[in-house]
Amino acid sequence: MVSEHEVRAALAAVMDPELGRNIVDLGMVRDVALADGRVTFTLALTTLACPLKEQIERNARLAVLALPDVQSVDIQLGEMTAQEKARLHGGEQPEGLAEKLNHVKHVIAVMSGKGGVGKSLVAGLLATSLRRSGYQVGVLDADITGPSIPKMFFPNGARPGSSPLAILPAETRTGIRVMSINLLLEAEDQAVIWRGPLISGVIRQFWTDVLWGELDYLVVDLPPGTSDASLTVLQSLPMSGVLLVTSPQDLAGMVVRKAAQMVQQMGVPILGLVENMSYFVCPDTGKQHEIFGASRADRMAARLGVPFLGRLPIDPRIATLCDAGQIEFYAAEAFQAIAEQVVKLAPGARQPAAPPA
Ligand SMILES: Nc1ncnc2c1ncn2[C@@H]1O[C@H](COP(=O)(O)OP(=O)(O)OP(=O)(O)O)[C@@H](O)[C@H]1O
Ligand SMILES: [Mg+2]
Repeated sequence: MVSEHEVRAALAAVMDPELGRNIVDLGMVRDVALADGRVTFTLALTTLACPLKEQIERNARLAVLALPDVQSVDIQLGEMTAQEKARLHGGEQPEGLAEKLNHVKHVIAVMSGKGGVGKSLVAGLLATSLRRSGYQVGVLDADITGPSIPKMFFPNGARPGSSPLAILPAETRTGIRVMSINLLLEAEDQAVIWRGPLISGVIRQFWTDVLWGELDYLVVDLPPGTSDASLTVLQSLPMSGVLLVTSPQDLAGMVVRKAAQMVQQMGVPILGLVENMSYFVCPDTGKQHEIFGASRADRMAARLGVPFLGRLPIDPRIATLCDAGQIEFYAAEAFQAIAEQVVKLAPGARQPAAPPA
């Protein structure tokens, strides 16, 4: 069986392409353990949002597998501490520097109980409407496993900018700053299969390490339900409030109540409820049809004790524009009124419910 020394020697051939040094010298290889042909170690990256993560991990795995008698390699991905990173960069990159330079007045998360009700669309339209009103706006895509924000805004894909000090968000044609895991992946359809703690870490980094600059509104698109990602956002970002989205298919409203309860338990205000896919206006007759049944959202809002902000129609143009990266150019009259209410209802940014870990 190989020795730890041999494993480290093999890994010393693996470079971090960005830093131009090998991963052993960079102090990224930790906790090497060997047992019965199985090698395990931790790979501590400078950031879990590292765009080269897969490449480094793959090369490390191949280097160790090439050793005699090694049958399997188990790599735990980790992250360096702030001090370690600072040492690496000659003390130039204290963690959370971006956070200190950022000034975000309002953070608003878009949430639902169920999947597919149109959260991402509402997040995109809210950002678009606020931008049209002249605000500085950002969108933080907290849906790490199913990110759909970049596709709505960037017809030809986009990459975040990078500086030695922070990650720079990508900017849309109308000047909305966007950060999403999809902007960091090599291929847009690459699957992200991560456990909760990794996902939470990336979301926190999207807050601490992204240079958002001066923003009036940061809109956060959450994954469906009350997952780790939602908890992380509600706990570690200084939330102004949550916008709940529902659809008429959500008959019992039970899942919305669950989501609302979680938000309220965390002491975050609910700004209001929006019903999406509420009705369809027939282009021939101009008549409104309630395809998924009569709207119950106003009653649901009353039951939750939150404002009912409005209904959005089913509009085939939405799907077309979303797929084409043209959401910013959708004339969303129905949405402008909702956005105006959000502006009135969103209080100033509060302190995070819990300090970011
Ligand atoms: N009002 C609408 N009219 C037409 N199409 C819509 C409407 N709302 C949403 N869609 C389409 O429905 C699909 C789901 O919407 P969206 O991705 O916004 O939902 P979501 O709640 O964010 O989903 P997930 O839970 O997967 O994150 C998208 O293809 C979107 O373009
Ligand atoms: Mg979504």
